[in-house]
Amino acid sequence: MSKPEKAKIGVITVSDRASRGEYEDLGGPAIERYLEEVLESPYETTKKIISDDQKLIEETIIELCDSENCALVVTTGGTGPADRDVTPEATESVCQKMMPGFGELMRQVSLETVPTAILSRQTAGIRNQSLIVNLPGKPKAIAECLDGVFAAIPYCIDLIEGPYLVTNESRFVGFRPKKK
Ligand code: MTE
Repeated sequence: MSKPEKAKIGVITVSDRASRGEYEDLGGPAIERYLEEVLESPYETTKKIISDDQKLIEETIIELCDSENCALVVTTGGTGPADRDVTPEATESVCQKMMPGFGELMRQVSLETVPTAILSRQTAGIRNQSLIVNLPGKPKAIAECLDGVFAAIPYCIDLIEGPYLVTNESRFVGFRPKKK
């Protein structure tokens, strides 16, 4: 049931240009603002800005999950069809279980605002006691996608025995099925 400890959440911006400082990272701060709005229980974030390098993405996810003990790791960028877009491959290679419903639902809700939503191969998966969720790189995609799936995230983290996340009910109702 409820664990008193502060949840740790990893935020990874995957972008060649942002990692070289040629482009301001807007995705990472947008994820942080979203979390501030929806989460009521205590948490702290660890942020990374890295290039679109599959090995580096894998190592960064592993570090946030295994060393930093992040219950949730949210990535932004690198989900499209271009040669350098490899975030979903990196995610899949470090997860024991994939959670395809996240990508399916995020694409579905995104299609309501943009026809190019299907160009994102965003996915999600479980590595030990961490849930990893990919988001597209466009800052406006962040709330659009997370609004679609966030209701299921606290219970998903319960099921992998992570910290008990409480959402701000005026903004968002997290869903936990009743005990059988
Ligand atoms: N999803 C939402 N909600 N809003 C968007 O603007 N852009 C799409 C898609 N998904 C978009 C979106 C586009 S144009 C692309 S190319 C893909 O995400 C992949 O983006 P990425 O490579 O930055 O991850």
